[in-house]
Amino acid sequence: MEVKKATFVVSNTDYRKCPDTGLPEYAFIGRSNVGKSSLINMLANDKDLAKTSEKPGKTQLINHFLINDEWYLVDLPGYGYARTSKTARDQWQKMTHNYMLHREALVCVFVLVDSRIPPQDIDIEFINFLGRNGVPLAIVFTKVDKQRQQEIAATVNSYKYTLLEDWDELPEMFMTSSMSGYGREALLNRIEEINKELENCQ
Ligand code: GTP
Ligand code: MG
Repeated sequence: MEVKKATFVVSNTDYRKCPDTGLPEYAFIGRSNVGKSSLINMLANDKDLAKTSEKPGKTQLINHFLINDEWYLVDLPGYGYARTSKTARDQWQKMTHNYMLHREALVCVFVLVDSRIPPQDIDIEFINFLGRNGVPLAIVFTKVDKQRQQEIAATVNSYKYTLLEDWDELPEMFMTSSMSGYGREALLNRIEEINKELENCQ
């Protein structure tokens, strides 16, 4: 899919205030600093669209970006950022969980995990939370430019092994690098495919 137009629309703390256009949306979630905002910029081909930072805790709201006037990319705050108060973490959890569970326009959640790090409880718990609640998800391995292929394969296998403890079927998985653009086409093609399936259902 070609991205011809990408625009920031709005930031929110409450899913009920998000755009009510009914257009399909794809959300990006994962630990703070895993590369959610960078991936959105890579997909949109605009390095200044979503704000990124070397320090964790940059994205703090639900951010909608409209792509080709047809669908949204949604950037979310990361989880697992230890240097915030419990109140802030509780607020985060409430905001994102409510968004995930109740946002009707949400078509798929891309859960981002670092391709250099073996499965962490917090990621597996989040994936299981989505699965238990019937929220469609895919796993996106980030920062593959920082890692040798063999080591990436080991991380992926370790995820598969861990997830199969709880699930009969594995979610789709994508390898990406926002730095090199690796995986851009595969992700955009998958989104296009889902968009077409949705159109055919209408
Ligand atoms: P929060 O908003 O704080 O939750 O973080 P985030 O998940 O949105 O991460 P962000 O996109 O801000 O990126 C965090 C850091 O990782 C930045 O310094 C990015 O430049 C770096 N980064 C992101 N993706 C990649 C990648 O694919 N390769 C490399 N080498 N660095 C990356
Ligand atoms: Mg961010």
